Parts: sequence; structure tokens; C-alpha cells
Amino acid sequence: PTDASTRRGAFIVFEGCDRAGKSTQAAKLVEYLQKRHKQPSLKSLGVGVGETFTNNLKESETMTDKAKVAQLWKFPDRTTHIGKMIDGYLKNTKDLDDHVVHLLFSANRWECMTAIKNILLSGTTLVVDRYAYSGVAFSAAKDLDINWCKSSDIGLLTPDIVFFMDLEPEEAVKRGGYGKERYEKLEFQKKARKIFLDLKDSSWKVLDARQTIPELHQQIFETAEENNLII
Ligand code: TMP
Ligand code: MG
Repeated sequence: PTDASTRRGAFIVFEGCDRAGKSTQAAKLVEYLQKRHKQPSLKSLGVGVGETFTNNLKESETMTDKAKVAQLWKFPDRTTHIGKMIDGYLKNTKDLDDHVVHLLFSANRWECMTAIKNILLSGTTLVVDRYAYSGVAFSAAKDLDINWCKSSDIGLLTPDIVFFMDLEPEEAVKRGGYGKERYEKLEFQKKARKIFLDLKDSSWKVLDARQTIPELHQQIFETAEENNLII
């Protein structure tokens, strides 16, 4: 039996091209983890043996407790100073050299590393929507040298598992199409997907993202459980 108080949180990443369903599945997984988590009973803490317990937390306590179990993060984090520069670039309000943009995306991860590390060490699981694989795939799709692209992310924390939501960009377009952001173009997404699949390593679980939302969700939490990532 594992105990949240003695175990670090899991670092779970979702990757894939735009419109593959990453955000939906990441949010569903967080919700699942939060609901599924059992409060350690008073008995297991060595008090009140033989008593019965009610666990009717107030709403505010429930929220705090939920955030301790699992949190949803997302890259790019558009709220920071660096994130705002990235946002302007993606929305085409600002042009930047491809190398600069790549380094900004990477720096946007680096600026969160201490916080991420501390959250994981405190026992909270992090579910992260995009990470360094996106950084490499989208920059290398602009024909930047792939090893140069990888180098700025060397030393970032390694995820325990990566769920790659695989969807042909032709299928993604059918899902209501892309928005107006810079990379949301069919040919570019096709290039990025190819590079993504070349980046696949032993931490990856490639999912067929054409499946329904409940089907994918089930595969995801079962896989997380099989890999001992759920407390
Ligand atoms: P989003 O749609 O998930 O907010 O991501 C915005 C775009 O940024 C998306 O097309 C993927 C791209 N991207 C990079 O080019 N490099 C990165 O490091 C990350 C995290 C995303
Ligand atoms: Mg997008």
C-alpha cells in the first residue's frame, strides 16, 4: 500500500498535435485522480480505533484537498512574462526569430521547474498538457537542427509517463478545424506529428485519439494505474 504522505506525486504529460484531445483528457484525468483519492482514515493514523468516521469536509477544505492530490498544468504557461511573449507570437501580433521562440518556450518550462519539483515532492501529482516534446517537434518542423532544439531542454525533470494522443492532422481539421494561431496549419502539423513520433521513447504510451472521450479516458487511467502512478 502506498501512502500520499511518503510518496512523491507522479509527473504525467500529455503530448500531441493541436486538436488531438489533450486538454480534455488531461482535465478528465485530474478530475479522476481527485475523486478517486481516499483520505487516509483516522484509524490508519493511529487514533480513534473502533470509532466510525464521517468525512464531510466543507467545500473550501475539499478544494484544498483536491489540489493536494493532483493539479493540471499547461505549457506554454501564457501567464508569465515569457509566456506573454509566446502568446503574442502564437497570435501573430509579434514576429520573432525561430531560434528565439524556441528558447522562449524552453525558458517557459525552466522558469517553472522549481515549483514543479516542489509540488511533486510534496506528494501532489501533476498532469501537464504539453512539455518539451512539443518544444522539439514544433521547432524542428521549421527545419531547425533537432539536436540544437533538444539541447535547451536538457536537465528538465523527466516525466514518469507521456500519453501521446495520436491523430492524423487531416482528422484533427475535421474536428471543427484549427483556430487562428500561427501553427494551426495542416502541412505544419503533419510535419510536427512525424517528428513527434520519432521522439517516442520508453515512457510513451501512444493512444489512438480517434476513439471516443470515455474510451480514451479509460485507457489513460488504466495505464496510469498499471504503471503504479496512482496513489
Ligand atoms: P497550445 O495550443 O497547447 O496552447 O500550444 C500552443 C502552440 O505552441 C501549439 O501549436 C504547440 C506550440 N508549442 C511549441 O511550439 N513549443 C513548445 O514548447 C510548446 C509547449 C508548444
Ligand atoms: Mg493550440
